[in-house]
Amino acid sequence: MKRWTGFIVLSFFFIFLLWSQSFGQSAPPKKTPELINQGKKLYEQNCVTCHGTKGDGKGQLGAALKPSPRDFNIPFKQWVHSKGDLKKVFAVITKGIPNTSMVKWDQLSEQERWALVYFVVEFAAPPKKK
Ligand code: HEC
Repeated sequence: MKRWTGFIVLSFFFIFLLWSQSFGQSAPPKKTPELINQGKKLYEQNCVTCHGTKGDGKGQLGAALKPSPRDFNIPFKQWVHSKGDLKKVFAVITKGIPNTSMVKWDQLSEQERWALVYFVVEFAAPPKKK
């Protein structure tokens, strides 16, 4: 009888562990002015060459690329890969887009990638509230 109790307690423990982990992954950090600011800096360091200072995809390198980088100024819902979904923007930055010059940026921390997500979405017109 005692063995069973131990087993049950342990299983609950593991279920809890799994649950808390998946929860942690799907919960993005809160959008704050500080985070957007961090995103701006990271964007200037890593993304302007292609996506341009205005986010229009006309950076020095971007102009010559095929396919050309996404123009972030179009409405967020029309972004080819993200379609208005912040989690998909995060996925694009994390995994890159196969067969394009959009490489993955998984060397950046999760927080840094979310900072970028919030920053690039700021380019989109009309500004999205959420
Ligand atoms: C070497 C050039 C290059 C760099 C540097 C680059 N990108 Fe891209 N990016 C691209 C290209 C090209 C595409 C479009 C690919 C396509 O149309 O399939 C793209 C697409 C995207 C998209 C997809 C938007 C959508 O939903 O359609 C996001 C988001 C994005 N880039 C974010 C970033 C961020 C953030 C950085 C900096 C960390 C970055 N990119 C750096 C070339 C680049």
